[in-house]
Amino acid sequence: MASEKVLAHLDANRQRHLDELCDFLRIPSISSESEHAADVRQAADFVAAELKKLDMAVEVVETDGHPLVYAETEQRPDRRTLLFYGHYDVQPVDPLDLWDNPPFEPLIKDDIVYARGACDDKGQVFAHIKALEAYVATGEELPVNVKMIIEGEEECGGHGIYRYTEENPQKLACDAIVVSDTNLYNETTPGICYSLKGLAYMEIRVTGPAMDLHSGSYGGTVQNPGNALAEIVARLKDASGRCLIPGFYDEVLELEADERAGFAELDYTDEILLRETGAPAAFGEAGFTTLERMWARPTCDVNGLRSGYGGEGAKTIIPSEAMAKVSMRLVPNQDPAKIAAAFASYVKQIAPPGVTVEVIDHHGAQPVLVPRKSEMMQAGMRALEQGFGAKPVFIREGGSIPIVGTFQACLKSPVLLLGYGLSTDNIHSPNEKFHLDNFRRGIRTSAILMAEAAE
Ligand code: BES
Ligand code: MN
Ligand code: MN
Repeated sequence: MASEKVLAHLDANRQRHLDELCDFLRIPSISSESEHAADVRQAADFVAAELKKLDMAVEVVETDGHPLVYAETEQRPDRRTLLFYGHYDVQPVDPLDLWDNPPFEPLIKDDIVYARGACDDKGQVFAHIKALEAYVATGEELPVNVKMIIEGEEECGGHGIYRYTEENPQKLACDAIVVSDTNLYNETTPGICYSLKGLAYMEIRVTGPAMDLHSGSYGGTVQNPGNALAEIVARLKDASGRCLIPGFYDEVLELEADERAGFAELDYTDEILLRETGAPAAFGEAGFTTLERMWARPTCDVNGLRSGYGGEGAKTIIPSEAMAKVSMRLVPNQDPAKIAAAFASYVKQIAPPGVTVEVIDHHGAQPVLVPRKSEMMQAGMRALEQGFGAKPVFIREGGSIPIVGTFQACLKSPVLLLGYGLSTDNIHSPNEKFHLDNFRRGIRTSAILMAEAAE
């Protein structure tokens, strides 16, 4: 447990924590939009200034893309070391008209803050910073050495942090990597996440005639790219939701019996799913429960599909092109490069004649699996239990955090995925939010973890 002094300081400074978080949220640090490059840098400078106030040695590290912020407290050899990771960049805000408040003018209503980045990931990053601040402000001795690496390219597939990690394993060496960029199990139950999905993100481009053609004059004479793409997409999965790409499941690590039992003990129901998503029914691969499919089965999904005329009324054409974006969410031990290659060759193979088909491999992420039993995992669970006042459950996550696999490979330290968000916090969507209760408990958890992880 962290000292009473530290915890009392957190309680006494709630309003200031929130005010400062709102300053952070006002910076439109959208990493994928080049017109926001200066804002992204401003967010890096904001983080750097916060950390400098904590007597840390701080560097704003230039990369080929957006800068990353690295900082460390005084490193004493007699203490364990925690490396905290997070990202200060955010997703684009469109569709803007579906927001109830401007996304970079934080709105506080019913103890919830609404803004882009509130949950993903500024609010969670800020929890770590304010936890450390409480030790510094109260003069309480830090139980661990703290390192922080906060990047600005998580949402745009940038590579700066990969290089930095590969080139600086000594500098980043630690006893555990702490990542708060995921979710609680639900409103009342924290979760300790031990697996993230990986990703292979592909695009299919189908081209036919040089221009849109009159569908009466030319219909029946040439292949239609819209129909051709539909044929391809229809053959990615069978009617029961199983992916048809040869070799797709070859390396899938099956769930252990105790994992399936653990999932089954959680009170998850399809009713929760339907309430959260607004979908009319649950659907997916036969032979697995909803939670098993969500957390531990690979997926293959159209993310975008376009061809021909979608405007008002009817326009009679044979479109000259069609395109689809397809994501495959991967599980341990699938390899993104192998899966991307299998996708490309399968799509080429099933492509109907009469069109040109191009497959583009956009980006990937390694899936992550963390041993559920380790001293650091225990420390993380104690911190969550004390911080949230409820015993954490083991969970997995369908989302990806691309750098985590590289951390595991280069630093060889256990990873603690301590998420403070809710699956209903609308990350990447309009009206993103962060519950201030979870913000406060998250700060407490991070402060307590610093004590629990100490020897
Ligand atoms: N924080 C998310 C990951 C996440 C998503 C955690 C959902 C918990 C629930 C992260 O910022 C993210 O959006 N990751 C991307 C990675 C992609 C761009 C490579 C994702 O999962 O789509
Ligand atoms: Mn995130
Ligand atoms: Mn995200």
